[in-house]
Amino acid sequence: MDALEAILTRRSTRRYTDVMPERSLIEKVVEAGRFAPSGGNNQTTHFIVFTEREVLTEMAELVCQEFSKMEADENTYASLRNSISASKKGGYVFHYNAPVFILVANRKGYGNAMADSACALENMMIATNALDLGSCWINQLHWLDENEVIRQFLYQYGLEEYETVTGALSLGYAEGGLPNRTPLPRKGNPINWE
Ligand SMILES: Cc1cc2nc3c(=O)[nH]c(=O)nc-3n(C[C@H](O)[C@H](O)[C@H](O)COP(=O)(O)O)c2cc1C
Repeated sequence: MDALEAILTRRSTRRYTDVMPERSLIEKVVEAGRFAPSGGNNQTTHFIVFTEREVLTEMAELVCQEFSKMEADENTYASLRNSISASKKGGYVFHYNAPVFILVANRKGYGNAMADSACALENMMIATNALDLGSCWINQLHWLDENEVIRQFLYQYGLEEYETVTGALSLGYAEGGLPNRTPLPRKGNPINWE
């Protein structure tokens, strides 16, 4: 698959098998993230790769616990509202039980923190598609970035106090084999040509 095809056929995967991808494949995905461009070539994007099932289960339980303490109103961003209401019902698994979860962090207060991280995440999503793996950007830990319970949990796995969680990626084999590659119709993203 060439680069353009990998970009145009990438879709989000939300159902995964339990099969752990070979470490060499996970390394290729992380390498794709590390080779993303960064403002001023800062290379401050930090990748924390989780592959232990027990750790991922504990993480999901903590996220569910912390969201369930929050209240949403009509001004709450719809996806966050869904996470809060699913958590209040119990059993919410924000990372879809993917066998691999790659947290992306960057320096607090760094103006390009989100832009650099997004470049890295997109590179990783395109790479997973090219490798016949599925992935999905996962934002819940970004929303909980200032939550002390979640931060203390993440410090154990390498998050630094001077870092902000900018995003994350669920990664694994899509249920049913290959990832869905049917493009979504474009309903936005206008273009102007002069
Ligand atoms: C910044 C950003 C945050 C996202 N957060 C989530 C998320 O937390 N959970 C999720 O299931 N999908 C998340 N997504 C995936 C989008 O829902 C998805 O890309 C969009 O619906 C288009 O579908 P496609 O990726 O299959 O083309 C996120 C995507 C982006 C770019």
